[in-house]
Amino acid sequence: MHVGIRSEHQAREGRVAATPQSVESLVELGATVSIESGAGRHAGISDDAFTDAGASVVASLHDAGPIDILATVGPIGDSNGRSDMELLSEGSVVIGLLDPTNNETTLSDLQARGVTPIAMELVPRTTIAQSMDALSSQATAAGYAAVLLGATSMPKFMPMLVTAAGTVPPARVLVLGVGVAGLQAIATAKRLGAIVTAYDIRPETKEQVESLGAKFIDAPTQQMDEGGYARAVDEETAAAQREVLTHAVAGADLIITTAQVPGRKAPILVDAEMVKQMSEGSVIIDMAAGSGGNVVGSQPDHVVNADGVMIHGPTDLASRVAADASRMYARNVLEIIKRMVVDGNLAVDADDAVIGPAIVGRTAAQHTDAEQVDEEQPVVEHEASP
Ligand code: NAI
Repeated sequence: MHVGIRSEHQAREGRVAATPQSVESLVELGATVSIESGAGRHAGISDDAFTDAGASVVASLHDAGPIDILATVGPIGDSNGRSDMELLSEGSVVIGLLDPTNNETTLSDLQARGVTPIAMELVPRTTIAQSMDALSSQATAAGYAAVLLGATSMPKFMPMLVTAAGTVPPARVLVLGVGVAGLQAIATAKRLGAIVTAYDIRPETKEQVESLGAKFIDAPTQQMDEGGYARAVDEETAAAQREVLTHAVAGADLIITTAQVPGRKAPILVDAEMVKQMSEGSVIIDMAAGSGGNVVGSQPDHVVNADGVMIHGPTDLASRVAADASRMYARNVLEIIKRMVVDGNLAVDADDAVIGPAIVGRTAAQHTDAEQVDEEQPVVEHEASP
């Protein structure tokens, strides 16, 4: 079983899909691991560290022989004029944050060629899949990085300081959207000494917010859907939300917004009027900028100056803490691979409770077909490459 780890080619991507620790575990599983030279440079991992862990460092995976599992951070693409598609042949698997919503054609081309695309985004958010949940691990990294970006962009201290030169009040931080990233943002801002308030449409987040020592804003809430995600709110609820949030927004020195609704454009939580109420020098970090934005005027990967309020729309927050984000991501990928290996050979079980839902394009119809066919042939196995 040959596992390939590529050097990520997307702009602003510093993460890598393996670490020396994950390579050691893959070798113990019976895998041969090839990794592109320099793949770990932004995550502080040298080629030598990968070699010492048992990997072969290669100039390009294209010259490393047939690959059974390609592990990536970002989607399939081109690097140095060659496509990742060329690395994948019938029976092979690609695992990564493949962005299935925006890469439908590429991924269905792969499937047509007998390649199994496993999107980390589709791993179910269940207890058994926790160690494989890359959305959570990367949201944790991003929530932390968002607060640090905000802290260094504000012209203020975060904690209260009592000094001979006077007493400086603590910064007021507002976190909108309290999923995984929001909870980490609250915890990080609290550690830095800020006064933190937070809000989410899901009522159960109140207790989570309060357990971190932050204050929950009593704006309208709504039950989540069967998958545990927020639903899009109706216009009446959105208006009631805006009314309550306007006051909190006006008083904040730093706002971190994280609100997302899967499969939809992110909801607007801070409109232009609300931004106008904020003091000059205050900062907004819109973590949803890449999916439409929670803040009117935010732009992905730009800083917009709205009359002295700086609105950041970073889409690379997890990559800004590339070493630890990679450490967590590599562990998620390793656990997925472990679930697909039997006696050192790749064996993709499309009916597995974690792997099945993560296979791109495995629709409800396919589930039913597979379940019928799989009675005779439950597992797709193929010979491991050397
Ligand atoms: P997400 O990234 O999809 O959304 C971030 C937050 O925005 C969510 O908390 C959501 O409720 C909130 N939001 C959406 N619309 C909003 C609005 N109009 N106003 C205010 N807030 C709004 O969320 P994430 O972090 O991916 O978590 C999604 C769900 O999955 C949560 O219920 C979380 O607890 C659950 N989860 C379960 C896990 C498990 O059981 N293993 C692991 C991780 C998450």
